[in-house]
Amino acid sequence: MNLDEVLVEINQFLMCPTPESWINVALENQETLLIDHANCEKKAASTAMNLLYRHIDRADLLKKMSQLAREELLHFEQVVNIMKDRGISYKHVSSSRYASGLRDLVRKGGEEELVDVLICGALIEARSCERFAALVPHLDDVLAKFYRSLLRSEGRHYQDYLELAQQYAGYDIQSRVDEFRALERELIMSPDPEFRFHSGVPDLAAMSA
Ligand SMILES: [Fe+2]
Ligand SMILES: [Fe+2]
Repeated sequence: MNLDEVLVEINQFLMCPTPESWINVALENQETLLIDHANCEKKAASTAMNLLYRHIDRADLLKKMSQLAREELLHFEQVVNIMKDRGISYKHVSSSRYASGLRDLVRKGGEEELVDVLICGALIEARSCERFAALVPHLDDVLAKFYRSLLRSEGRHYQDYLELAQQYAGYDIQSRVDEFRALERELIMSPDPEFRFHSGVPDLAAMSA
């Protein structure tokens, strides 16, 4: 499957595209974008690692999540290298509301929690790809090339998460997936006072305050 086909699928999976205003603010805040991006890669690896610790009896999960953790850590290293090349110091940047907002919908305990965490993973991966693709046409050559390479590497991650969620649920997860998709759209389309890699519509008045 080529990159365009992967992106078509991702755009169908997500309920809305990234708003133009987010792209504009991202281009004006590339330091924060890169620092938060590095954090996201690190968190993607640690989410995969947590699943490795918590579900040692699920062979398919162990295989996919250990591959994923390695890939995400490699991305982390690549972002940090780009930051270094650009003289951007890796300072603390707080997390956005996005991942914690999605996690609010996760049911606690057992199989249900696992299925929901995997669905969240799918959405975060899909949105990340959609944002890489949205940014690419506006970026300098180095960053554009890097984000395109990430798209290639990340393009199937959301499917890996979805397939595992379906496999371990033992019931049709579509309606559950749709609940998370709707929440995800809300987090992307509602005003957000903070700019981050996964933030919502920039609330410019609140940002300059
Ligand atoms: Fe990644
Ligand atoms: Fe990923």
